[in-house]
Amino acid sequence: MSDLYCVFGNPIAHSRSPAIHSAFAKATGQDLIYEARLAAVDGFPLAVSEFVAAGGKGANVTVPFKEEAFRLATRLSERAARAGAVNTLAFDGAEIFGDNTDGAGLLRDITNNLGFPLLGKRILLLGAGGASRGVIAPLLAEKPASLFIANRSADKATALAQAFADMAPLDAGGFAETAGKSFDLVINATSASLSGDSLPLLPGIFAPGGLAYDMMYGKGETPFLLLAREQGAARCADGLGMLVEQAAEAFFVWRGVRPSTGVVLADLRAKLTA
Ligand code: ATR
Repeated sequence: MSDLYCVFGNPIAHSRSPAIHSAFAKATGQDLIYEARLAAVDGFPLAVSEFVAAGGKGANVTVPFKEEAFRLATRLSERAARAGAVNTLAFDGAEIFGDNTDGAGLLRDITNNLGFPLLGKRILLLGAGGASRGVIAPLLAEKPASLFIANRSADKATALAQAFADMAPLDAGGFAETAGKSFDLVINATSASLSGDSLPLLPGIFAPGGLAYDMMYGKGETPFLLLAREQGAARCADGLGMLVEQAAEAFFVWRGVRPSTGVVLADLRAKLTA
């Protein structure tokens, strides 16, 4: 019988994870089934226990359950503990192992796929919610020159910077406090585009050769990337690569095999732009 995996979320119908993991399984010869499972907003633990009872070996977790998955795990990887959120679960008897592959996925996309090393770079991270928290430690591990966290609510940015102050001194504040500064990499980890809002990116924010990276993706260029291009970003990338890379990292956690991502990413890109 094939091993069973799934992604939990709400909503979940449009998740690309089943297609991605099925492609990985085919390419690596791993015998597994991966499905999308809708969990009720107040029914995540029950959905997980039902899945485990049905023989589930592991699961990805997406909005809005990543913090709840963190609390449900009986054992955490160091990176999940640091992120305060879990996007990958592995089940073994009574143990629920919680990991977080989002940060590794972002880093792999930026440094490998986009060929943009972060050593010595000035980074601006927009947003201070869960998406932002999950990528701070992996970004700092690349030894950038600096990391500035800017958020609509400045106090949340400051609190987040303090939570990681043991790793490196971080700058934090409201968007206005980035005035007069420029950055080699600006990452959008806010959910502003979901409400159709645009971010107050200040002129001069991009250093020459600067990369704008949106963790969101969609058909065509995202609102953040359109704005970034207007403000002089030399390069723009959306989060489709991060999506595929975090999946590859989760696949590795479960199966001990690292799938290649190039063909899957190209295929998804073609479907998105079709
Ligand atoms: P996630 O887990 O996706 O990060 P979250 O924890 O709700 O979701 O955080 C959303 C982030 O997007 C926050 O940084 C939020 O800013 P506030 O802390 O000030 O609320 C940011 N965000 C959401 N809508 C925004 C908007 N219209 N303009 C600017 N920032 C926005």
